[in-house]
Amino acid sequence: MRTDTELIEAARKAAEKAYAPYSEFRVGASVLTAEGAMFSSANVENAAYPVSQCAEANAINFAVSQGMTTIPVVAVACVDAKDVSGAYPCGRCRQIMSEFGVARVLVTTSEGEVREHSLDDLLPFQFKL
Ligand code: THU
Repeated sequence: MRTDTELIEAARKAAEKAYAPYSEFRVGASVLTAEGAMFSSANVENAAYPVSQCAEANAINFAVSQGMTTIPVVAVACVDAKDVSGAYPCGRCRQIMSEFGVARVLVTTSEGEVREHSLDDLLPFQFKL
């Protein structure tokens, strides 16, 4: 089983491959599936800004497209100096996490601090069908 440290390290590595020429905010995310598999991805921006995709969404969609449907842990890291208060997932990504059973979210700051949150704390009263 992957450790939290491995997940965070993989998220940092993934962030280095981000395509973020507009924001210069390179984010990486790694997810751990119920099977113990790890998937990582990064944010990919677009000249039409709203078309940009977040690292968390890309990593979760990557895992799901490989047949994974339960994703208990997500780690997020940013490798750019703009990350002063931690690479917190946006609201849309929190909703995507909710769909696939994310329970724990590990957020890192540029100083290397790791903060663990439950998705219940990050997204109370989750919308589910
Ligand atoms: N971004 C992510 O990839 N994940 C987050 O948790 C928040 C924001 C990306 C989107 C965009 O490419 C850049 O960071 C600045 O918003």
